[in-house]
Amino acid sequence: MFSPQGPSLRELAVQALSSVERGYDLLAPKFDHTPFRTPDSVLDAVASALRRIGPFEDGLDVCCGTGAGVGVLRQVCEGSVTGVDFSAGMLAVARERVPSGLPRVSWVRADARALPFRPAFDLAVSFGAFGHFLPRELPGLFAQVHSVLRPGGCFAFPVVAPPRPGSLMYCMLLGFDLVMRVRNAVWRPPFVMYYRAVRFGDLLRELEGAGFRVHLHPLPEFGRQRDGSPRVRMVVARRLP
Ligand SMILES: C[S@@+](CC[C@H](N)C(=O)[O-])C[C@H]1O[C@@H](n2cnc3c(N)ncnc32)[C@H](O)[C@@H]1O
Repeated sequence: MFSPQGPSLRELAVQALSSVERGYDLLAPKFDHTPFRTPDSVLDAVASALRRIGPFEDGLDVCCGTGAGVGVLRQVCEGSVTGVDFSAGMLAVARERVPSGLPRVSWVRADARALPFRPAFDLAVSFGAFGHFLPRELPGLFAQVHSVLRPGGCFAFPVVAPPRPGSLMYCMLLGFDLVMRVRNAVWRPPFVMYYRAVRFGDLLRELEGAGFRVHLHPLPEFGRQRDGSPRVRMVVARRLP
């Protein structure tokens, strides 16, 4: 699952017993060698889909980590690009790895539940971070993203169809969530990371509740499931003017 440059089992265990913020500080130097970083295939597909509905002026990557989504924004935004994350360690790696150039990139350390921006962005993206939020935190998170977008601005992120019940992937994710629930019941600080806590329908309802109009764009690069539905979609939530 991990490359030789990735974290050891012991390092992962120490990280998982920390808070989310501290855990990512510790993981940061090896994060890009883990499967937790969004794969390039997903980033490329989202960039292509955004190109079809762009261009955009100023972009924000929410929970940017080491800068995976910032690379996408640099392709589709003509103005500034900002990455925001609460882990100083992840931001330090991002600063080293993402080349400077145009559009201008800046990094901000902040909690996504309290974004320190005015409505200054035309596009916000987020990759691989919603598992760190409890279902009850989603309305607040989406309200924050809504508040930093200019009227008409978009919040876009990919969503993978849930695995078929009984499949190997289904059992692995279920097992992971169970372990995390036990860990969080007996250990402080909590490390919130659940794969199956938020349902797709809830996600869409909360976005609409926050004042977005939602459109779904299938990402054709990932094909379709047996029932014909797309394997991966890009959600585009537009802030109503
Ligand atoms: C799985 S990583 C994904 C990083 C990157 N977006 C990617 O796709 O490679 C999740 C990131 O979310 C950040 N994060 C989690 N909760 C956060 C919060 N409340 N505010 C800001 N960042 C948060 C973590 O620090 C971490 O960098």
